[in-house]
Amino acid sequence: MNISVIGAGYVGLVTAAGLAELGHDVVCIDRDQVTVSAINNKTPLIHENGLSNILSRLVPKRLIATTDYKVITDTDLILICVGTPSKPDGSINLRYIKNAAIGLGSVLSSKKGYHVVATRSTIIPNTTKEVIIPIIERYAGNKVGFAYNPEFLQEGKAVQAFFNPQRLIIGELNKRAGNVLLKAFKDIPAAIFRTDLTTAEMIKYASNAFLATKISFINEIANICQRAGVDVYDVVKGLSFDYRIGGEFLNAGIGFGGSCLPKDVAALIYASMNHFGYRPELLRTVLDINEMQPSKMIDIAESKLGSLRNKTIAVLGLAFKPNTDDIRNAPAIGIIKLLLAKGAVVRAYDPQALDNAKRVFPQRVDFCSSAAEAIADSDCVLIATEWDEFKNISLYHGKMVIDGRRALEPSKAKSICDYQGVSW
Ligand code: UGA
Repeated sequence: MNISVIGAGYVGLVTAAGLAELGHDVVCIDRDQVTVSAINNKTPLIHENGLSNILSRLVPKRLIATTDYKVITDTDLILICVGTPSKPDGSINLRYIKNAAIGLGSVLSSKKGYHVVATRSTIIPNTTKEVIIPIIERYAGNKVGFAYNPEFLQEGKAVQAFFNPQRLIIGELNKRAGNVLLKAFKDIPAAIFRTDLTTAEMIKYASNAFLATKISFINEIANICQRAGVDVYDVVKGLSFDYRIGGEFLNAGIGFGGSCLPKDVAALIYASMNHFGYRPELLRTVLDINEMQPSKMIDIAESKLGSLRNKTIAVLGLAFKPNTDDIRNAPAIGIIKLLLAKGAVVRAYDPQALDNAKRVFPQRVDFCSSAAEAIADSDCVLIATEWDEFKNISLYHGKMVIDGRRALEPSKAKSICDYQGVSW
């Protein structure tokens, strides 16, 4: 098939690369010339395992990028993968979705024949029906089919997840539109669930809200366990035998960051309260617990060191999770801001996210080129991301270590350093 993908960020580019690998001819459309040139030069701006390999083999044979929407006239299916960031009040910002709909609608107006527009961006229930379809039909009439296909890719393993998803959710305006989308993914082994557009949009939000709830749930249990003298990680082992509960996404620590879980829970709360007339108390508490967890590291440091003024604190890990350079909503960033506000001297290291973090803290943080360099001469070490290289306990001999991610095994760590887990 000939497929165009609008938005060459992390979701769009991984989707485009995956579809090209499946044998389709794919064009990425992005308004940013730097992003477009990087793809065409096989040097993507985002870091994702396996992505560069696909680009190096398939650009320009089956995958190219452009800023020009006109290429859409040569394709059968458009996937909208633009960002849906939050506004300051937590509501979803549909600016890029609307721009994409206008851009492709005006080109589709001159295209003859049937065309399917499917969205993969996370959008509040009813957005396809109330925003995307009206804009595109205003330009292109009713020769366009619509679908919604949520992505469940996790950063850091997105390429692998593209080829082995647990499910393909096809929200379709009608079977004809859904069939085109299914044809694009026909070689992907996954359970398939076909439903209407709005249900598919809600499935995406319910998924991320559930994952966020699991994390805040276990952090709440961890806070209770800690006071009861119980290790929450042993409790999770016990829970995991019950298939109704499972053991996944129950790692206690400093909570969830990233560009998805915090934003999506906030957007669902906003839409629920302001559009659907329901106050979601559980989800509000999920966010409250998540905001509280990172500051527990500072509380522990203060309880051990007293005032943090002029104390040297090493922060290991800046990305919101390992194997990514993404620092959006990363707990480490909030922790560093708090440390600086308390007058601490911050030495920070991350294997991949240093460049991004330097843009946030251009002057006041001492960025180091290794974990050992950050740890040397520090009064206290905070582990904020569980990168594999931080699991080497020989790094921490004689140090004070506060572990926000259970990167270290407590009993081993306690034998060589002053170790304290954030809630174990
Ligand atoms: C999340 C979802 O997991 C994906 O299914 C979804 O497709 C994606 O959002 C999206 O909407 O695009 P992602 O943001 O890449 O994926 O990251 P996760 O792996 O979910 O981790 C999110 C945060 O939760 C990280 O900060 C991680 O450290 C934290 N976490 C995760 C925990 O604190 N405990 C856990 O048990 C698991």
